[in-house]
Amino acid sequence: MYLTRLDVHGIRNISSASFSPIDGINVFYGANGSGKTSILEAIYLLGRGRTFRSRHTKTLINHKARECTVFGAANSTGQAAVAYTVGVTREATGSFQFKVDGRRVTTSSSLADAVPLLLMNSESFLLVEGGPGGRRRFLDWGVFHVEQQFQSVWAQFQRSLQQRNKLLRHDKIAEQELVSWDDSFIRLSKHLTEMRRGYFKRIEPVFHELIDKLTSVKGVSLSFYQGWDDNRSLESLLAENIERDIRRNTTSVGPHRADIKILVDGRDAGEVLSRGQTKALVAALIVGQGQMFREAKEKQCIYLFDDLVSELDNDYLLRLLKVLASAKAQVFITGTDYVPLIKVLENEKIKDCAVFHVEHGTVNSLNALDLKGEAQ
Ligand SMILES: Nc1ncnc2c1ncn2[C@@H]1O[C@H](COP(=O)(O)OP(=O)(O)O)[C@@H](O)[C@H]1O
Ligand SMILES: [Mg+2]
Repeated sequence: MYLTRLDVHGIRNISSASFSPIDGINVFYGANGSGKTSILEAIYLLGRGRTFRSRHTKTLINHKARECTVFGAANSTGQAAVAYTVGVTREATGSFQFKVDGRRVTTSSSLADAVPLLLMNSESFLLVEGGPGGRRRFLDWGVFHVEQQFQSVWAQFQRSLQQRNKLLRHDKIAEQELVSWDDSFIRLSKHLTEMRRGYFKRIEPVFHELIDKLTSVKGVSLSFYQGWDDNRSLESLLAENIERDIRRNTTSVGPHRADIKILVDGRDAGEVLSRGQTKALVAALIVGQGQMFREAKEKQCIYLFDDLVSELDNDYLLRLLKVLASAKAQVFITGTDYVPLIKVLENEKIKDCAVFHVEHGTVNSLNALDLKGEAQ
């Protein structure tokens, strides 16, 4: 899918902005503090229902406004292309309204279906350097989109885990009660893990292909860690750990501990790669997800790259733009200057590109003539 029109109201310094992106590479440039990241936040809000900059979505509402709204018109790609709309309103009080094609939806997963998107920003290096949680959510993004049942099994599993942990917190815990709960905990764990493992198996070669294309890092190995020892049954590990779990009030093994282990020549990638290499690796993983999405769903997702030129070295940038252009996906890139990007795009004869100037929260499209004049 791709967005054909965006109307943004009350997001950070943007009181009102409307623009029509192209189905290709959209570059947003402007001075620091002009509102570039806010544009990406607005698009992200449309696909996820929240912001990526804070745990509190309220912070993105303009100080003078009581609510923020993003409205998007989209086209699905593929054989039977249809046009549809998506709208998100969030109020300072915490209430929200999500709409897909004019109909109210209650969950952010409905938005994710309507506007599937992937983001890379200055925090994304944490995908490699940070803890397992980020990698688990990253993997689950793909499993969610490819496996229809994933969302419901995942939600059931979360409830089961919370219930188990609640029981563990009781002063006098009846182990028998725990055992009776563990039946469904184990069943859901296995189902969730089966879906994750199946997805990982499909995406692993795609990841490697993109790591080759987008980075100069050699000797990368990726493996799926299910959240407990592969050679042991979850039943026996839960039984074995019961005393420890009671002491710590938490379940120590299970799919909530799953991870993608990333090694370079046998060592933890986060500990051996330079920051520049890490970012290129992260870009490869992100684009790998997008590519898998396209293969599995026969439609496109959107990519958001915040401050791309300062995130990636020139050589990596060039490789990434080439891959994105040939993937024919809709891409939103921000930067303080568009000239370095335009030069790369021109050299590569990448024509599907539009440039927007962001200034004090307003967005203006630059036409081809302006671009030629300014680039000289
Ligand atoms: N809730 C808010 N209300 C009004 N302005 C805000 C709010 N949050 C941030 N800002 C301001 O919005 C501007 C745009 O921020 P940002 O999108 O991060 O800029 P850029 O990415 O172009 O550097 C900044 O000047 C910031 O101070
Ligand atoms: Mg910014």
